[in-house]
Amino acid sequence: MSADSDAKKKRAAQAALELLADESIIGVGTGSTVNLFIDGLARLRHRPRRAVSSSETSTARLAAAGIEVRDLNEVRELNLYIDGADEATAARHLVKGGGGALTREKIIAAAARRFVCIIDDTKLVETLGRFPLPVEVIPMARTLVARELAARGGRPLWREGFVTDNGNHILDVHGLTITDPVALERELNQLTGVVTVGLFAVRPADLLIVGTARGVDTR
Ligand code: 5RP
Repeated sequence: MSADSDAKKKRAAQAALELLADESIIGVGTGSTVNLFIDGLARLRHRPRRAVSSSETSTARLAAAGIEVRDLNEVRELNLYIDGADEATAARHLVKGGGGALTREKIIAAAARRFVCIIDDTKLVETLGRFPLPVEVIPMARTLVARELAARGGRPLWREGFVTDNGNHILDVHGLTITDPVALERELNQLTGVVTVGLFAVRPADLLIVGTARGVDTR
């Protein structure tokens, strides 16, 4: 991460910390921007005591910060979920899953009343698709799904050697121009063998906090 991008991510993470009210539990995503948020949480005097986490990596970091990680099944209400993204549009549609945690991220986003996405301004795009779209697949369906994705104009590449926290594989789909993210998310979700598509458009972020060279923009 460059110093510039790190500073922008820090500004977005700090703005998310300032949103915290009196939540006793929050949802926490995965990635370098979220790591900065977790590091900030660790320094807060009044912080949420519990969290639901989207990955084993974030779980370890939260635990090291003294925050108890709960299973989502034990949580009745989740008001706030903080997570990063690989790409975002002004409509708050996202591509996520660069870190491979897309399935748990999508589950927590669905469970949360408010989904706040923290990014630096290099992630803002007019049209999604510049960042290869991650698709988590059941391992035995990998080539079947890859053929379906290729038939739709994408170039799927197996993220070889990477296994998700759910024991699955990831296909990173290059070369897509995603003009209708809601429709594409729905369509790809229907492919047999697909666990999760890294498009977050049916359930977009509620608030986008964009770290810039000068401060933060919110959308
Ligand atoms: C992990 C994700 C991350 O939110 C995304 O990859 C952004 O990561 P970073 O904050 O490191 O740029 O979706 O699955």
